[in-house]
Amino acid sequence: MKLQVRKAGKINSEISVPGDKSISHRAVMLGALAQGPTTVTNFLMGADCLSSIDCFKKMGAEFSRPDNNTIIVKGNGLYGLREPQDVLDVGNSGTTIRLMLGILAGQPFFSTVTGDASICKRPMGRVTEPLLEMGAVIDGRQNGSLAPLAVRGGVLKPIKFNSPVASAQVKSAIILAGLYARGQTEICEPHKSRDHTERMLAYLGAEIEVNPGDVKIKGGPTLSGKPVEVPGDISSAAFFMVAAAAIPGSRLIVKRVGLNPTRTGIIDVLKNMGAEITILNEDEVNGEPVGDICVCGSELKGTVIEGSLIPRLIDEIPVITVAAAAAAGETVIRDAAELKVKESNRIAVMAVELRKLGVNVSELEDGMIVQGGGSLKGAVCESHDDHRVAMSMAVAGLLATGETVIKNTGCIGISFPGFAETLAGLTDSANI
Ligand code: S3P
Repeated sequence: MKLQVRKAGKINSEISVPGDKSISHRAVMLGALAQGPTTVTNFLMGADCLSSIDCFKKMGAEFSRPDNNTIIVKGNGLYGLREPQDVLDVGNSGTTIRLMLGILAGQPFFSTVTGDASICKRPMGRVTEPLLEMGAVIDGRQNGSLAPLAVRGGVLKPIKFNSPVASAQVKSAIILAGLYARGQTEICEPHKSRDHTERMLAYLGAEIEVNPGDVKIKGGPTLSGKPVEVPGDISSAAFFMVAAAAIPGSRLIVKRVGLNPTRTGIIDVLKNMGAEITILNEDEVNGEPVGDICVCGSELKGTVIEGSLIPRLIDEIPVITVAAAAAAGETVIRDAAELKVKESNRIAVMAVELRKLGVNVSELEDGMIVQGGGSLKGAVCESHDDHRVAMSMAVAGLLATGETVIKNTGCIGISFPGFAETLAGLTDSANI
């Protein structure tokens, strides 16, 4: 599959984006550990979340799909899963493998997990090491630090874990293992990462304490199935927010998007760069803030993105580099070495692809410097099988003269089924 995109005029539109990927994964997993049904509306039917469903089906959780955006998860309680007869395959999903490892570590059975070529390159030691310390038996390639992995779980002992990285996947894996530990598990991280696991566990009845620097979870709770409404994914909204912000005179509203403060770094950055952003119709659903995001475009200027802001926009950095290319002056991104171990090495890959459009980019060990302001020229680009790279380059195509072609865009279905249609409706310029 490929996308062809032409330079866009002003955007004046109101759109919705699919449900949040992180919250959809957690609804599957926590629903599977809860007692009774969890009805999940606006569920993201993207390939990653379907991988989570597939894995938990193999462990006996039941799922039904009453309509296109709704699933009902029937769990049998914390100890209701059973030994899977086959390998658990997470596809491309880092969230599935890492969070599920935390759950598998506490199960009285044996399991094996694997994923696609990208998953088999991504670091798992950051999760398996603390789980080994809690008493799970885990082995795999490179001393248990790469998938495929084999897990023999059991009753765990609580630990105090100081995570070296600000990663919600690591934090969540240990929180979920903590459900199966005798006593209280404590997790600290260098900067606060997204806290959807904590919020959903509290909503379903777990005893969880969230402090500014740490999270404490008590083992052995009873989780009760409840309705979950998944907010629109701000990481998906970000592509269109950047497009509207970078085209002066544009006005875009994205309806009912998740506004959890651990995820709203993109709003702060676009405001710093000169876009006007307002929030309308604020609300709260299952412990998560939501609202409509209204973005008005203008001439953007470069900015610096670093420190505790990084985990609040880690998945938006590829599209932020596109905003940076369109902005006057220099944008510096640092403290973002985590980008090298995402679905692709997003520092190297975005540098290669932006250069094709004539953008001056230097790579840093932990980020990049983008010289903005030059005019972008359409080119033939590659997705590198990374959904966020593919969509970021499509946005770049809206800002570039002539035509931009993005090859291998099938990966977009990982997080944003319907992206091409939304893009086409917005600008009348994209074709699959
Ligand atoms: C996610 C956490 C982040 C993010 C990923 C989803 C989650 O990964 O990049 O897309 O749902 O917990 P890290 O925990 O590796 O930072």
